[in-house]
Amino acid sequence: MKCLVTGAAGFIGSHLCERLVRDGHTVVGLDAFIPYYPRAIKETNLAALRRHKDFAFHALDLRHGALDELLDGVDAVFHIAAMAGLVKSWTDFDLYASCNLTATQRLLDAIRKQPTKPRLIYASTSSVYGRHSSGDETLPTRPISPYGVTKLAAESLCRAYQEFGVPVVVLRYFSIYGPRQRPDMGYFKFIDALLRAQPITVYGDGQQSRGNTYIADCVDATVAALRAPLGETYNLGGGESANVWEILAKLERILGRKAVTRQEPARPGDQRSTFADTAKLHHHLGWQARTSLDEGLLRQVEWQRGLVGQTAIRKGVSA
Ligand SMILES: NC(=O)c1ccc[n+]([C@@H]2O[C@H](COP(=O)([O-])OP(=O)(O)OC[C@H]3O[C@@H](n4cnc5c(N)ncnc54)[C@H](O)[C@@H]3O)[C@@H](O)[C@H]2O)c1
Repeated sequence: MKCLVTGAAGFIGSHLCERLVRDGHTVVGLDAFIPYYPRAIKETNLAALRRHKDFAFHALDLRHGALDELLDGVDAVFHIAAMAGLVKSWTDFDLYASCNLTATQRLLDAIRKQPTKPRLIYASTSSVYGRHSSGDETLPTRPISPYGVTKLAAESLCRAYQEFGVPVVVLRYFSIYGPRQRPDMGYFKFIDALLRAQPITVYGDGQQSRGNTYIADCVDATVAALRAPLGETYNLGGGESANVWEILAKLERILGRKAVTRQEPARPGDQRSTFADTAKLHHHLGWQARTSLDEGLLRQVEWQRGLVGQTAIRKGVSA
């Protein structure tokens, strides 16, 4: 199968591309290297893929790049590219609106014009649900951040293009972690601070909990979506919830160090709890999470240990 992966240089996109070529697919990856975190990290994510004979990379911005040729002969599009992370979405709305919504519209429009329309698998987020995001796919969608609003709007746009016969499957990811996690994400920051004996900022009371999903489990479900019934939406979560203090305690055990924390007020847009009921994903596609939180955190710590001292990658990470 020939697959197009948007956001191929990012955390999830690069893992997905590696899995697809391993499975014997031909993969076209695209990414605009949005400088939200250092390009050096994304280049490292791509390094092994660039050497693979079945992988071709295009540095292209979905907001204005030419897409028709890239879609030629493509059977499935994994639309992973987006401006992720909620904090910056309050201060740079145009970037979120354009990368999450305009970019998706351009991609959908290009797919619509293909004689044989490839399946579109859209990477959405638990943020579409809002403050309390625990349950199945019937939870009301009430996002509380501009990020969540743009991701929900893009989801709706994908469904609207079903009017033109675009075959769509939506996956709502719940807090993905593991090697290559984005440096703005909580677990990356916690581990980084512990490794460098720096204080850790905890926002709010630290009781906010996440339904953590290990990257390999996320990729398994994303690939399984190739055979999902069209038009479906799935929650994708790892099945083990933990709050900030519980995560810190696990990391302290793994690293054999005590965390020094300082508390700051909760941030606008922060979800209180997220936990995915994945019964539908299991029922339709036989998927279930395999990686325990302890095992997944250990793997992320091992990866981050390897980053300490890599100055090109470190530059900008702690900013
Ligand atoms: N990481 C998580 O926990 C998580 C949770 C829920 C949903 N998601 C979704 O998963 C997807 C991937 O997230 P990630 O954590 O890998 O983020 P990431 O930032 O590492 O990867 C996204 C990539 O998309 C690229 N991109 C952004 N706008 C683009 C554009 N206009 N044209 C081309 N490329 C563009 C970026 O350069 C980046 O490399 C996103 O859609 C995000 O909303 C992630």
